[in-house]
Amino acid sequence: MNITFAHSKGGVTKSALASNLCVWLHRKGHEVAAIDLDAGAYGNKSLTTSVGQAVPEIPIYQPADSKELRVLLPKLAEQFQFTVADAPGGFQSTAQTNIELLKHSDFVLIPVKPEFDAIEPLSVVQQIIEEARLENPLLEARVIINCLDGRTKTGRDPQSIVELIHAICPKLQLMNQKVRIDSSAFQTARINGSVVVEGGRSHAHEDLNALFAELLTDMVVTIGGHSQRLEQAGNS
Ligand SMILES: Nc1ncnc2c1ncn2[C@@H]1O[C@H](COP(=O)(O)OP(=O)(O)OP(=O)(O)O)[C@@H](O)[C@H]1O
Ligand SMILES: [Mg+2]
Repeated sequence: MNITFAHSKGGVTKSALASNLCVWLHRKGHEVAAIDLDAGAYGNKSLTTSVGQAVPEIPIYQPADSKELRVLLPKLAEQFQFTVADAPGGFQSTAQTNIELLKHSDFVLIPVKPEFDAIEPLSVVQQIIEEARLENPLLEARVIINCLDGRTKTGRDPQSIVELIHAICPKLQLMNQKVRIDSSAFQTARINGSVVVEGGRSHAHEDLNALFAELLTDMVVTIGGHSQRLEQAGNS
């Protein structure tokens, strides 16, 4: 199963969530590989750096272009239970790679911060996902709300954010579990060359664990439903 983190906007916490999910799945005993399509761009924040430092035994792949990616993804799907891909920032500038990635993904996860700048471009993301579904009709998409700040009204009651997301991209489902802002947990993890899910108890640690547990259940149920649909289609 390939899980891709993508958004048309940069700085929305794609790499941070992707690296935590890789390590979380690995610690749960799953065979997991990381695919970093944004390795060069952001130095110490890349999926390669975070996963490589936290759990060096997780294999990391860095396909150079969409051609390489097209060959690599089906191979990894046979070898690993999960691959977690960090898409390059921006759908427009890296269109071919992103399209190739979405064609071969089972789930695309779209992190947003509770800011209009991160939420407004979701209409573009939804459109690109719809296009990818023409070739990959079983592609699932989920929006993740990250960086909720309990000191603000929106942070304490994120319903307005949920409604805004529904209004902008009615076809994209949201994860129930949201992640609170927790700069000290992320900073500590970075200093320790680790990831938040490996660190001590913190808001982010709790929220990410709950988010990934929800995601795993969601994936099992959804993919189970897909298999049934495929079987039914095969029998008819
Ligand atoms: N819940 C959180 N609380 C506080 N900081 C967070 C949280 N989640 C992520 N961050 C931090 O947000 C910053 C931006 O995240 P990240 O680099 O993962 O974004 P990105 O979408 O991959 O960006 P880019 O488009 O530049 O690749 C990082 O410093 C990360 O540690
Ligand atoms: Mg990144």
